[in-house]
Amino acid sequence: MTLVETPFTARIVGCGSFLPARLVTNQELAQRVDTTDDWIVERSGIHQRHMAADGEMTSDLAVAAAREALDHAGLAADEVDLIVVATTTPDQTFPATAVRVQAQLGITHGAAFDVQAVCSGFVYALATADNFLRVGQHRCALVIGAETFTRILDWEDRGTCVLFGDGAGAVVLRAEPTRPGGPGLLSSRLHADGRHHDLLYVDGGPSATGTVGHVRMQGREVFRHAVANLASVVTEILDGHGLAPSDLDWLVPHQANQRILSSTAKKLGLAPSKVVITVGQHANTSAASVPLALDTAVRDGRIQPGHLVLMEAMGGGLTWGACLARW
Ligand code: COA
Repeated sequence: MTLVETPFTARIVGCGSFLPARLVTNQELAQRVDTTDDWIVERSGIHQRHMAADGEMTSDLAVAAAREALDHAGLAADEVDLIVVATTTPDQTFPATAVRVQAQLGITHGAAFDVQAVCSGFVYALATADNFLRVGQHRCALVIGAETFTRILDWEDRGTCVLFGDGAGAVVLRAEPTRPGGPGLLSSRLHADGRHHDLLYVDGGPSATGTVGHVRMQGREVFRHAVANLASVVTEILDGHGLAPSDLDWLVPHQANQRILSSTAKKLGLAPSKVVITVGQHANTSAASVPLALDTAVRDGRIQPGHLVLMEAMGGGLTWGACLARW
């Protein structure tokens, strides 16, 4: 794929995140599920997860993260003319959670919609907003990954319920005139292969069953595909820019599992110290995991102006993708 220079470049000018107050440790989980702290830590690297309270909805998490991102960017909500929310756990079947976020932020203009690519959702949403901003159709976007994922877990299935958590992360993207070598999103690569539906899906839905359903996963197979697909999409996007993994300052991956993160970094020959890891504290928050990890590394000062930052994710579908940014 040839990279085309467009009149505008979308730059991340602010980020924010939100985690529900309730913290659930592995020990607490082991009191209601047949599992142990040792098993969860050894197989996934997860120590704890946050869980939304009753009545606390995905849009509430998303709005809190969005407000923080706007504050960080120093922008007022009414400057936003595009809201894209990546979520697998929308408040309602319709309208889009993005529209509820728009209303709560007091915005009455522009476009707002959801993107559904499960754990790849944030990368898909970022790539989508980037394409609107690049061509000048919108000027300022909020891109949010938000999930109340614990609501779709089967608490009788110990192979899945220990791995996920709730949370939200957001970035503000602003269109700026393209400046070669300047900051902004450089490119993105998205993939899907629906033949692998049965590896990771929810056994419900408005059309299929009329119920919400629960997560079903073939963990080992998902693991195998994740390492192969993530290493491949990272190589693909870097090759497009004539870059090597060693040129990256930071890899901000989807936080599914410590062993997937380590195996992918090893396959790429990337130093583990360049990988931002939050899975231990947040567990897998699906579409929220990449912006939560990004916000962590921006706020603690690891990500600095000029740094080359690569975000990547894989999720149900299967879907996977990557976005490369100059900070
Ligand atoms: N606590 C204790 N034991 C558990 C358990 C839990 N929470 N979950 C499963 N087990 C048991 C199984 O019953 C099985 O027992 P058995 O050998 O007596 O039958 C044993 O542990 C091994 O199960 P298995 O599923 O083969 O383990 P695994 O090594 O593949 O690890 C995952 C399971 C889910 C941690 C691992 O496959 C994985 O990380 N996959 C990727 C999942 C993922 O990240 N998905 C999201 C992508 S977006």
